[in-house]
Amino acid sequence: MAFEKVSTILKEVDAKKTAVLAFDCYNYESIAWIIETAEELGTPVIVMLHPGMMKYITAELFAKITKTLAKKAKIPVGLHLDHCDSFDTILGVIKAGFTSVMIDGSRLPYEENVRATCEVMKAAHALGADVEAELGKVGIAANTSDFKNEDMYTTPEQAADFIDRTKVDSLAIAIGNAHGYYVETPKLDMNRLKEINKAVDTPLVLHGGTGIPDDQLKQAFKLGISKLNLATEYFALFYSTTKDYQQIKDKKDSLFSLWAYQKKEIQDYLRNKLSLTIPDAKTSR
Ligand code: 13P
Repeated sequence: MAFEKVSTILKEVDAKKTAVLAFDCYNYESIAWIIETAEELGTPVIVMLHPGMMKYITAELFAKITKTLAKKAKIPVGLHLDHCDSFDTILGVIKAGFTSVMIDGSRLPYEENVRATCEVMKAAHALGADVEAELGKVGIAANTSDFKNEDMYTTPEQAADFIDRTKVDSLAIAIGNAHGYYVETPKLDMNRLKEINKAVDTPLVLHGGTGIPDDQLKQAFKLGISKLNLATEYFALFYSTTKDYQQIKDKKDSLFSLWAYQKKEIQDYLRNKLSLTIPDAKTSR
């Protein structure tokens, strides 16, 4: 158990016909509380660093915290670099101890996405790291057209060609999902997911987990999603619980009381989310 490669975790959850949750983190607490809750539930988990968070914490320190906590955990814990379009940053982060990275070439024309992904694959695999790529465009959930416009979606044919040419370890797809708060409830294209899953053997990743209803998430896990990315709603809880605490009558005016309150609220959220990945006999893929 303990610290594990993301590709190994994806194989394990795939065999159990479920998914692993992957959370963007930015400090010690956001990493530690996820690992602690996942351990309580007995589920694997992936801790992710978004390049935008590197102004708050270095990749070296982030990797050290995750690995130190993972070594003591009785569940598999993965470490992954989220959305990155810079080859140099990817190499730097691998050297800092990351064992999985995402090359996001989804904004590039198709052939350039293939080329950029192959370049990262070659370097990352030589250094023992896994690679996630993205095909289709996962836009911004504040723009209805970004998640309702099927022209942005991944096609099964292109997914098969992309995997064949890049041999990536996992593929993020666009099926009606987008990043941030959705302006209206999303409706994932489950038929498309089924077709993509039929067309490729590679584990599929769903980004934009914030605000996707739980029933759709569970169905998506059954139909082939092996990794779900979450960030916005997780980060938002660190802020909203700080505000909510101020409204509590008879609260103790102490940093550590606030901290205990936040931890409880945030771990309740994590428990709910992580439990979606625990397969019950009737709902397995
Ligand atoms: P949300 O911020 O919508 O949860 O998406 C997170 C994500 O996909 C990170 O890669």
